[in-house]
Amino acid sequence: MKKTIKDFDLVGKKVIIRCDLNVPMTNNIIDDDTRIKASLRTIKYAIKNNAKVILLSHLGKIKKEEDKKSNSLYPVAVRLSEYLNKNIIFSFDTRSDKLTEMVSNLKEGDILLIENTRFEDIPQKKESNCDDELSKYWASLGDIFINDAYGTCHRAHASVVGIPKYLPSGIGFLVEKELQKIDNLLDSKTHPFIAVLGGKKVDDKITLIESLINKCDKLLIGGAMSFTFLKAKGYNIGKSIISKEHLTFAKEMLNKHSDKIVLPIDFVVESYIVKDINNFDNDDIGYDIGTKTIKLFEKELNGAKRVILNGPMGLFEDKKFSNGTNRIFKYLEKNKIKTLVGGGDSASSVNKLGYEDSFYHVSTGGGATMKYLENRSLVGIDVIEDK
Ligand code: 3PG
Repeated sequence: MKKTIKDFDLVGKKVIIRCDLNVPMTNNIIDDDTRIKASLRTIKYAIKNNAKVILLSHLGKIKKEEDKKSNSLYPVAVRLSEYLNKNIIFSFDTRSDKLTEMVSNLKEGDILLIENTRFEDIPQKKESNCDDELSKYWASLGDIFINDAYGTCHRAHASVVGIPKYLPSGIGFLVEKELQKIDNLLDSKTHPFIAVLGGKKVDDKITLIESLINKCDKLLIGGAMSFTFLKAKGYNIGKSIISKEHLTFAKEMLNKHSDKIVLPIDFVVESYIVKDINNFDNDDIGYDIGTKTIKLFEKELNGAKRVILNGPMGLFEDKKFSNGTNRIFKYLEKNKIKTLVGGGDSASSVNKLGYEDSFYHVSTGGGATMKYLENRSLVGIDVIEDK
């Protein structure tokens, strides 16, 4: 068991809370603040217990100097102060004497948000490569480190894995809840246990598929990633996108697990008509699963006791191609099937289509949840002190 924030006396302590405030933004305007809201409980607990709170988070990826302009955490500071009804002190520096001084001036109950940790990736990827000097500097700012950045726990970065090497550490309420929810779903041995995978890329789901296939009773594959499997079965998939380097993997999976893997039989194509996969023309691209597939997937889900869903069934961002994802959500909701939704795109499809409160758990983590499902271990959690 890992220590949690509750295991520490926080009064008067400088508590570094690593959050995942990596929210989608367009032109510095926040598109979805689910992750900010999910971080509030731990922050509120720390202030209530008279800690001096120092928040760290990354935002986006910083590969070149100009990426900084569109990835400042400042709009997040503004949104946080609205939710907490409290001033948030913001440091534009990620490392400087000025920042050190700002920290030493903090009073009990104050909150300081430090600018995007990945600004330290220019020029030498110090955050992403877990630079020791940087980890030590950030650790020097606090007395206690709390990891509440669930969505980032699979990253061995300085602000996640580096700091706790040098400070007493624990997990926050969000990380605790996410892990409990996934553990509970995996531990309750009820069957049928169905995995529903979708989204664009097979690439990042290989290990997830390998791990789930042995645990689940059926694996339903929708979304664009199904075309790699359909191609492997010999269908003409038109111009639908596939992952060529994973065709062999798809073939092997289909050979070994033909009894478990269920693939779409029809799709909505670009002209909005529904076509059977047998009838695809060379120019066709499938953007959503079709009505026959929806019925087939519903039949497979009938009576399911547990479902893990990762990735949408189609291009749900376009209303005309959101029917497949919507219908699968509706079926799971209506039949009260214990469903864990994980994955960045799936969480936003849940929000966008109005199913925020419909499921057993909607994870704030994409890559982290997939990684945890593989072998129930995350680098960011492993480094935290045990009780
Ligand atoms: C996420 O959005 O999945 C997390 O915030 C991690 O972000 P990353 O994939 O850029 O490391």
